[in-house]
Amino acid sequence: MNHIPKKYYIANWKTYQSISTIKRFIQASNQEADWHETIINSYIGIAASYEHLYYLHKKISKLAMHLGSQDCSAFLPGAYTGQVSIESLQDMNISFCLVGHSEVRAELGQSDMLISSKFKMLLAANISPIMCIGETLAQKNDGMALQVLYDQLEHILNFLQSYTGSTKIFIAYEPRYCIGTGIVPSSDDLQKVFCFLKSLVQQLPIAKNVMFLYGGSVSSKTVQQLHDIKEISGFLIGKASIDFQELKKIVQSDGRMV
Ligand code: PGA
Repeated sequence: MNHIPKKYYIANWKTYQSISTIKRFIQASNQEADWHETIINSYIGIAASYEHLYYLHKKISKLAMHLGSQDCSAFLPGAYTGQVSIESLQDMNISFCLVGHSEVRAELGQSDMLISSKFKMLLAANISPIMCIGETLAQKNDGMALQVLYDQLEHILNFLQSYTGSTKIFIAYEPRYCIGTGIVPSSDDLQKVFCFLKSLVQQLPIAKNVMFLYGGSVSSKTVQQLHDIKEISGFLIGKASIDFQELKKIVQSDGRMV
């Protein structure tokens, strides 16, 4: 991730895909003569599940896309049953890795401390962490949204005070009530959140390497509203990213509005 593209589109495939649906996705992308033109100045990343990374890692660069993981182990290789180490992700040329996705926080009970350990280890391995944060609807309605986001970021902000590396860092704001619901926040709410997040990182030595993503019900329909928020450098796209044509439409609709 050395050059700075205009926009990042990160497909979070969760466990939606199988080898056969991935094959169809690849076939569809190979048939699109204008795909390479569509993504000029864009960074397209696929966050695949562990079992598909090895299959994808040799194919992905031909598709002009980059490969990422949806999570990683917070431990060095060793006696950690059921975990996937950052070293093995490096073997598959992973460019980025999600950490702290709300599904991982809620379903696997990962703490802010554990998530920040993964974040630091990824940076040490020159893999871009995509740190996911977001509040619940109840927290938003209680006026707690910014506090919740700050709490989720606190450990990494402390660490980044003295970090001077050049690996790109992503903060993905994904309100939990927007994931998989078809709802996106109002432009005013988004503006407020992203200005707040920017204010938190602007004093850091590596502030210019921090990119902000929005995630939660991004689709070719909602991207039109999201496009106007200038602080957003790109999108983390779940369900809508599993179909190649829909992903392409998102990139095209967003690009057309530049
Ligand atoms: P969604 O998921 O686009 O399906 O809402 C986004 C995410 O969870 O990263």
